[in-house]
Parts: sequence; C-alpha cells; structure tokens
Amino acid sequence: MTLSGAISIKSATKVYDPDGARVLALDNCSMEIGPGEFSVVVGPSGCGKTTLLNAIAGFHALTGGEIFLDGQLLSSQEKPARPGADRIVVFQNGALFPWLTILENITFGPLAQKKLDPAAAKARALELLETMGLAGIALDYPGQVSSGMRRRAEIARAMINSPKVLLLDEPFRALDALTKTVAHQFLLEVYDRTRPTVFFITHDLDEAIFLASKVYIMTTRPATVKLVLDINLPRPRDFRLLASRDYQRLREKCREAVRTEALKAFSAGEREM
Ligand SMILES: Nc1ncnc2c1ncn2[C@@H]1O[C@H](COP(=O)(O)OP(=O)(O)O)[C@@H](O)[C@H]1O
Ligand SMILES: [Mg+2]
Repeated sequence: MTLSGAISIKSATKVYDPDGARVLALDNCSMEIGPGEFSVVVGPSGCGKTTLLNAIAGFHALTGGEIFLDGQLLSSQEKPARPGADRIVVFQNGALFPWLTILENITFGPLAQKKLDPAAAKARALELLETMGLAGIALDYPGQVSSGMRRRAEIARAMINSPKVLLLDEPFRALDALTKTVAHQFLLEVYDRTRPTVFFITHDLDEAIFLASKVYIMTTRPATVKLVLDINLPRPRDFRLLASRDYQRLREKCREAVRTEALKAFSAGEREM
C-alpha cells in the first residue's frame, strides 16, 4: 500500500486570456490532499474544477501559486506543467480504442511503454478486470459492451499503470443511476485495494459523499474552496450507508453549501444578461 501521493495546492491561480478576453478561472485556491485520500470536488458548472484538475495533471501551467506532489514542484507560473506517469486522468468522454479488445486496451499502455512484459501485463489486466467486475468481457470490443462497463474498463486501464494519483473528471456523468451505483462499487473496490490518491470531480452530491474521504465544495467562478467536509463514514462502503443518519446529515450540509453557491451563480448570470 502506497503512502505517497500527497498533493499540495498553494494559492493556485489561473487566468485564461484568449484574444484579450480575460477569464479568471482559479483564484488563490488551496488544498492539502493527503496520500491515499479520496478527494471529491463539487462546484457549480464553469467554476474552474476542470481547470484545477488539468493543472494537477500537468496539461497547463498556473498563472500564480504552486502545486506540489510529494513535495516536488509540479506546476507554478515559472515552471511549465508536464504530464507524468504518476498522475493519470480518466476523462468524462472516455477514449478506449475501438479496434482493440477490452483486455488489449488495458495492456496497451504498459506494453507500449515496455513497463511490463506481455505475460505480466495480461495477468495484471485480468486481475484488474476481475476487481472491476469485467472478467466476462475481456475479449469483447468496446462497442460490444455497455457504457457503464466501458467506464469501468477505462478505470482499469488507468490503474494498470499504478499511478500515485488518479484524476477523474465527471467520469460517470452520462450513466443512469443504477449503472452509476455499480460503477461506484467497483471503483471503491479497486481504490480499497491499492489506495491511490484520488481527485474526483462531480455534480452529484450522493456520489460525492458515498465515495469521498473529503468533499471540497468550490465557490462560483473564480473557484476557490468554500467548504471542506470530512466524510468519516466507515470503509468498505456499502449502499446501505445511504439510509444512515450520519449520511443524511452530511448530505444536508453539502446540499446547503452547494445551494448557496448555485444561487450566487444564478444571480450573477442574471446580472450579466
Ligand atoms: N481554454 C480556455 N480558454 C478560455 N477560457 C476557458 C478555457 N477553459 C475554460 N475556460 C473558462 O474557465 C472557466 C472555468 O472552466 P472549467 O474549469 O472548465 O469549469 P468547470 O470544470 O468547473 O465546469 C469557465 O468560465 C470556462 O469558460
Ligand atoms: Mg469541468
């Protein structure tokens, strides 16, 4: 079990400036995410969540502030960010190769990078597929399986690289409620086994609380942390948790904070119109 993967975000600021139309997306945003923490970020649409995830992933540099991973500077104004194998992103609209089987999709990365030999890659992939409840579709092509299975396969594809940090940007957004519940169960299964640090973005409060060790509620744009909620619910998590009083209490707190920000975003939008 890894004890690395601490992410320290210090006053992260990001300004986009396409054609002089200045957009402040992150403003002095700070977070201390512990190694192996399952952090879930919730906030109004357009507040800057993806901007923050992209900065951690190394897809773009910050305009101000710093991001560290285990004490190493990942990104600042001076240091152009760089993606690294220690951080892997699972996007909202996944991208499995349609011409490869699910198994081949999962072994593709480590084989292309010569990190594992074919036998080891296959063994590891089959183990992950088993954990994600996908053993039966290893030899199917992505087009032959359900969207929920494809999403889980993408997580397996990320996890075969044993990243320190798993970054997920609304990965289950397009799934129906029931399929989502199944995806949560398998994601937690793989998380409990290896405990990577997780940075997970969602709009869904039930999803946030069910998965998280900590929920970070963001302000409307520019994003900064409005409230951090410790989710001290026991693991392994079980769907029966949703009926518990502790869960309901946390959900109500979360809902109130998000509601206040959503109202602010709404009235700001009205003023602009
Ligand atoms: N590449 C870009 N250029 C200019 N503006 C951008 C760019 N990416 C995002 N934005 C703007 O930055 C703000 C935050 O975007 P984003 O981080 O995608 O929000 P979220 O993920 O919370 O919905 C939005 O107003 C968005 O329009
Ligand atoms: Mg986004």
